Amino acid sequence: MKHELEAAWEETDRIFGFVAEDALLARPIPLRQPLLFYVGHLPAFAWNHLGRGVLNLPAFAPDFDALFEAGIDPPDDAEPPRQDDAALWPPLDAVLAFRDRIRSELGRVLGEPALAEVLPMVLEHELVHQETLLYMLQQLPAAAKRPPAGLAATPKQPAAPPKSERVRVPAGLARLGAASAEFVWDNERPEHDVQTEAFVIDSLPVTHREFREFVSAGGYDDPRFWTEDGWRWVGQTRRAMPHGWSTHAGEWSVATLFRDVPFDEAAEWPASVTHCEAQAFARWSGARLPSEEEFHRAAFATPDGGARPHPWGDAPPALAHANVGLRRLRPAPVGAHPSGVSAFGVHELVGNGWEWTGSPFRPFPGFSPLARYPGYSANFFDDRHFVLLGGSWATPLRLVRRSFRNWFQPHYPYVITKFRRVYPNR
Ligand SMILES: [Fe+2]
Repeated sequence: MKHELEAAWEETDRIFGFVAEDALLARPIPLRQPLLFYVGHLPAFAWNHLGRGVLNLPAFAPDFDALFEAGIDPPDDAEPPRQDDAALWPPLDAVLAFRDRIRSELGRVLGEPALAEVLPMVLEHELVHQETLLYMLQQLPAAAKRPPAGLAATPKQPAAPPKSERVRVPAGLARLGAASAEFVWDNERPEHDVQTEAFVIDSLPVTHREFREFVSAGGYDDPRFWTEDGWRWVGQTRRAMPHGWSTHAGEWSVATLFRDVPFDEAAEWPASVTHCEAQAFARWSGARLPSEEEFHRAAFATPDGGARPHPWGDAPPALAHANVGLRRLRPAPVGAHPSGVSAFGVHELVGNGWEWTGSPFRPFPGFSPLARYPGYSANFFDDRHFVLLGGSWATPLRLVRRSFRNWFQPHYPYVITKFRRVYPNR
């Protein structure tokens, strides 16, 4: 665990290294804190929980402990803050010194048995933030970024890519949640089985190319396809295409972490859209989003009634199965990971983008909050957040597990997502 945490620190530093130093006060997502906050937040969280929380070590910078304590999840119609960031936040040198002091103080005590229970939570908090940082950086202008050398190559679509088909998944049990004694977040417990009806699901996620048909057909001008809430959002934001798309002189392009790419280059990538856009596309094509249970059944159940840890079986996640783990730092064409197929023949349920479900984020029956972080999930059980599953190219490998649940508001356009449809069961 100590080595895993140290490796995570290294990865976090690699990610901050993608940002030009003078861009650290930027707020790439206007409603969130500036990037510099996260330089201090990750060590502060570790220190507040491990050093101060468990070991009762004396504070050496209580003002920083408090300043960097908590992130924010503002309502998506809130006003961006107006404070002067340059005056509010300490200089980078001071934040880095705070970080390094925490790392060296904790480095001396990480082997203490008393920390064993909280250490995985601190590690996973850091890993969850790595993905958040990456999708925030995607919003920064290219001039503020320093792309790394030596990323793993993006696979081309196979010469004969799997075609998107409709796959019938028979009625049966879906296994949700985790039973293991290992650390998981509170919202992943308890493990339980849910009986699902038979359903018909896309074998591949919807691509940008497919989503453009909806855009070109006037999908953003027709209230019939949208929920009431989604239609209000389209009107308020005057949205006419997904957040990551842009058009200049008739040429379409799609945002990636380090640059915008011509639409053709991104056409076979999964469409990364908000929940309400995914929902509208599904309704436009006579379908709906899968429920959380249906996703689990399609991904992890087997025809003989079992459940596997990953769609492909027992092997730990690797780039051959799925585009995960911050190795490529960009999407891959759908269907480029045929060895990740599930037992029912559904492709790419894990990786490339968090997959939207139609299910609001709710506690499992028997939920009990984490004693040391009671608000982690419970603050979001408001039916204003929807569950996403499976992980993206920006998801650290440790979080690629069957029971891991992600959740976002239906208009939040920054997350790396994908979606597929479930059809009326005829
Ligand atoms: Fe946090």
